[in-house]
Amino acid sequence: PTESHIEILGQRFPRDDYTNITPAIIAKTPLQLHTKPAHPLSTLRELIESAYPDFSHVSTISPLVSPFKNFDELSFPADHPGRAVTDSYYVNRNMMLRTHTSAHEVEMFRKGETKWLLTADVYRRDEIDSSHYPIFHQVEGARIFSTDASALKEVEEDNEHLSSQLASANIIIEDVPHISPTNPVQPKHDPVFAEAITKNLKLSLNNLLLKVFGAAPGLSKDQPLRVRWIEAYFPFTSPSFEVEVFFQGKWLEILGCGVIRQATLDTAGVQNKMGWAFGLGLERIAMVLFSIPDIRLFWSEDPRFLSQFQQGKINVFQPYSKYPSCFKDVSFWLPQEKPLHENDFCDLVRDTAGDLVEDVKKIDHFVHPKTGRTSLCYRINYRSMDRSLSNEEINHVQSQVVRHLQDRFSVEIR
Ligand code: PHE
Repeated sequence: PTESHIEILGQRFPRDDYTNITPAIIAKTPLQLHTKPAHPLSTLRELIESAYPDFSHVSTISPLVSPFKNFDELSFPADHPGRAVTDSYYVNRNMMLRTHTSAHEVEMFRKGETKWLLTADVYRRDEIDSSHYPIFHQVEGARIFSTDASALKEVEEDNEHLSSQLASANIIIEDVPHISPTNPVQPKHDPVFAEAITKNLKLSLNNLLLKVFGAAPGLSKDQPLRVRWIEAYFPFTSPSFEVEVFFQGKWLEILGCGVIRQATLDTAGVQNKMGWAFGLGLERIAMVLFSIPDIRLFWSEDPRFLSQFQQGKINVFQPYSKYPSCFKDVSFWLPQEKPLHENDFCDLVRDTAGDLVEDVKKIDHFVHPKTGRTSLCYRINYRSMDRSLSNEEINHVQSQVVRHLQDRFSVEIR
């Protein structure tokens, strides 16, 4: 870190002790895969938008937000683990890359939006494997209702309408109570109104899931869609839920949702409204709908990937032959005074080797009985999605990984 500033999306920011965004991440911030024509993530976004034709659809909001907006405005406690520099990407103490699309709830409501979908790239530091990537995409959806005397009737009428749509559908829903002692109504809320809104949320999302999973190619028409509702916790909703869908033999986590905390709406200046919000990850759904086996493929520029898709069409991806992988191990002693977080190691590898790393695994952890020093061994699986890698090239990348590890974390290579 010799430079005093960091440039991201055409803006310059001073570095400080929080700065942990790597060039590999910065390079991807302008790509906006969810609006790239014919990209699977863009097709899925439009499919979801088509389930909410009378909502505003927003998909071009910058990922740079203040930690206040990402966390505090949404009632995250000061000691929430998501705030840690090991879990989130910081430009500096005052600016970060959003970790979820909920970061824009207050701003959307403040603008007067009452029914909206917002799709965007979100960033979380994480391990590396075929289903985890530090950048992914979410759709946030929200609807707020007025709370005056005639409002309850409107919610109930909409619920009737949504129920009748579901009545003829081939769907099996495992439900939980709208409200329970562990998933309570907010103190300021009228329980009857809160129940009606929870019901509206569940009906709306069950209909969405029917539409999304009903679009899967080769899905047999008489096979029911199985949806499971689970009690959850989020700092900015109560009651809160998670939803899973049974697909290709597995329960998939699809989304989080709930009745919006009144504090959020108060901050946005819409004290007299009440409503629901949900947040859904696009990659996992797109992976099953399009049979895409590796999350890195979404970032591929290879025509053998991109040419298989058309905007608006869901088809089964035909994998092209995989190039061989190449494993390299690195073992080292940790410096006694400074810990090394697994996410720091993964970011260092990703920053050095880019998308050539498929997978990073810790294969040994050993504490020397006499000296008490810790030794770690990581196995890095190198494989390109687009071409065959030469041994020289991989040896070169691996030696850079080793050098960066020594320079930045003062480890002792074994
Ligand atoms: N933002 C939450 C997440 O990323 C999902 C969520 C959105 C939950 C809206 C409730 C309401 O996990």
